[in-house]
Amino acid sequence: MIAHDRTRLTTRLGQGQYHHTPVMLPEAMAFLRPERGGVYFDCTCGEGGHSEAILKASLNSKTVCMDLDLNMLMVAKERFKEFEGRTWFVHTNFADIDKAASLANVANSDGILMDLGISMAHLKGEKRGITFMEDQPLDMRLDVNRGEPAHSILLRIKFEELASAISEYGEERFAGKIARAIINAREKEPINTTGQLVKIISSVVPRSGRINPATRTFQALRILVNQELESLEEAIPKCLDMLGWDGTLVVISYHSLEDRIVKNAFKNAADIGFEILTKKPLCPSEEEIEANPASRSAKMRAIRRKGG
Ligand SMILES: C[S@@+](CC[C@H](N)C(=O)[O-])C[C@H]1O[C@@H](n2cnc3c(N)ncnc32)[C@H](O)[C@@H]1O
Repeated sequence: MIAHDRTRLTTRLGQGQYHHTPVMLPEAMAFLRPERGGVYFDCTCGEGGHSEAILKASLNSKTVCMDLDLNMLMVAKERFKEFEGRTWFVHTNFADIDKAASLANVANSDGILMDLGISMAHLKGEKRGITFMEDQPLDMRLDVNRGEPAHSILLRIKFEELASAISEYGEERFAGKIARAIINAREKEPINTTGQLVKIISSVVPRSGRINPATRTFQALRILVNQELESLEEAIPKCLDMLGWDGTLVVISYHSLEDRIVKNAFKNAADIGFEILTKKPLCPSEEEIEANPASRSAKMRAIRRKGG
């Protein structure tokens, strides 16, 4: 179901080693209950940390592994050789989960996981311009075959739209200043690399503490480029539709805007036969945050279709 295109693979680790540590894994499995067997959708497979736990929980569990990033699916496919026959790999946006289900010939699901955002592989292994830690081409697309790269958006976007994206998606209080600096800079030359963008941001945002001044703007542009909030909004009702009796949807979000979308969608579903399993979102334990600081902003919500 996926093309064998390895040309875009960048930094690979040794066999059995992965960039990403799955977040809130025991909590996710407690809600999904893959030990019962059944068909699970991992909407954001990444390198496959959560899917692996699903597949290992029972010989009767199967996963439909989806990701926008073909490279991630290639890594997961290799990782899951031993589970052949119990896995499908679909290179798609999770907003198209209904199409992925028909490709895999699956009518409904026992559990669905959405672990939003990006993988550590995007920060450490890939060279898409998602990280500001290295000078890279300013692309930021998770699916490099679709959509418009960040450098192209920055060439044409209007000041107001840019400032509001940086403010809303990045929760950046210097959004106006940064947007103005970007617009001024692009009049001199196109902004094609992360290095150029970091320089522009640093020229107008004072450094405070350990946080890099570019952090919030990079997050905002990534959300804008990949239309992350729109996809989430479209996907959740489709995921709920896909759930069979007693099936559970678990969403791990890393940003207050994402969490708000999940919270509201779950609230609406509670009126139509679903039970919210998390009155308040769960957060990672202190031990997990210490072992994996990337987990610190995670919030998990779960909802289950009431049994028939
Ligand atoms: C946090 S990582 C998942 C990590 C994975 N759970 C693991 O433990 O290895 C999120 C993944 O979701 C993918 N992704 C983000 N938005 C997506 C979307 N709209 N549709 C499909 N995949 C998406 C990213 O490419 C990334 O690989």
